[in-house]
Amino acid sequence: MPEVSLSHITMRFGKVVAVDEVDLTIADGEYVTILGPSGCGKTTLIRVVAGILEPTQGEVRINGKSMRGVPIEERDLGYVFQNIALFPHMTVKANAAYGPTVKDLPMEEREQVAKKYLEMVKLLDKMSMFPSELCGGEQQKASLARALATGAKLLLLDEPLSALDARVRVDLRYELRRIAKSLGLTVVHVTHDQEEAMSVSDRIVVMRAGGIVESGTPEQLYTRPRDVFTANFIGETNLLEGWVKQRLPGKSTIELRDNSLIEVENCDPQVGEAVVVSVRPEFVFPFTDGLLSRIEYLTYMGTYWRVSSRSQSNDMVEFDVPSIEGKLYHPGQEVYLMFNRNAAVVYPRPKEGVTEAVKLE
Ligand SMILES: Nc1ncnc2c1ncn2[C@@H]1O[C@H](COP(=O)(O)OP(=O)(O)O)[C@@H](O)[C@H]1O
Ligand SMILES: [Mg+2]
Repeated sequence: MPEVSLSHITMRFGKVVAVDEVDLTIADGEYVTILGPSGCGKTTLIRVVAGILEPTQGEVRINGKSMRGVPIEERDLGYVFQNIALFPHMTVKANAAYGPTVKDLPMEEREQVAKKYLEMVKLLDKMSMFPSELCGGEQQKASLARALATGAKLLLLDEPLSALDARVRVDLRYELRRIAKSLGLTVVHVTHDQEEAMSVSDRIVVMRAGGIVESGTPEQLYTRPRDVFTANFIGETNLLEGWVKQRLPGKSTIELRDNSLIEVENCDPQVGEAVVVSVRPEFVFPFTDGLLSRIEYLTYMGTYWRVSSRSQSNDMVEFDVPSIEGKLYHPGQEVYLMFNRNAAVVYPRPKEGVTEAVKLE
């Protein structure tokens, strides 16, 4: 059963350090997503796991066995490439039957296996077509069926849902997780889409500029991210800069740049330390007092309105109000904002500045 461990993996292309000293262990049967902005090294990392790239430094182990010098075809894994890469001269069925063919299974069995997985991804009706006759989403499904049909217990997926329509993508996310769990697969799934990562993963590994920022369950990373980059990258959040004024168990006070005071439940930094407070829009609400802010614009989101306002210290503060309350607010209006004390997460203010610390380069 596949457990994957990466130790000190570095991958350089000339001067570019695409992956920088990555340590990561993925347990047998775990569904892990590598989430990060475009260009952060996700594809490079998954290629190293696959054996398409030999790392400049470090070691990949599968089930404790070093993969140094072991080619992709001997690593017993299924791989869905970011650019899909189906065999263009083969039908969808022949593509799906590729793994079983390489394994030299009897003809009948090859066909059975191919059909089983094409059915799983709901592509049985297109099995006689060629890749060029399929739309992007169908090609992606065919590519997934081909990877599953190899029978490998380790599945590597590089942006496997990116070519699908929004609706189909949501359905297939669920399917992907269901298939992985029912077959007992270990999955490494690369994506830049935080919603996708949240919905399929046992654990999310956040990557930035070649390195790992942190990892945790979707819920941990959404509610209690350890790094302000994660707070900003996963979901949406307000970032308010200030200083710790008072620190008590279960109740600390932060002074913001406009001298207003806010209360938070948890605060690790010491009194006097510069901090940034992260609070998600759904936990901010208008009240009779609190943080004075002027509404700049409203965005209709269907089930709610996202109200974007600016505090006196020039921080953008966004909050959500139910659709039926949208009429109560208009640009130019001044509101007092409060938020749940336990919904705020306090970070030491990054030396490079908050903007720089959350930038998606
Ligand atoms: N074969 C290559 N040669 C040179 N630079 C590369 C190569 N592959 C990737 N890179 C660079 O490595 C960085 C990470 O790329 P990649 O792993 O594709 O990112 P992601 O998949 O997260 O978008 C980028 O700066 C990219 O230009
Ligand atoms: Mg990529």
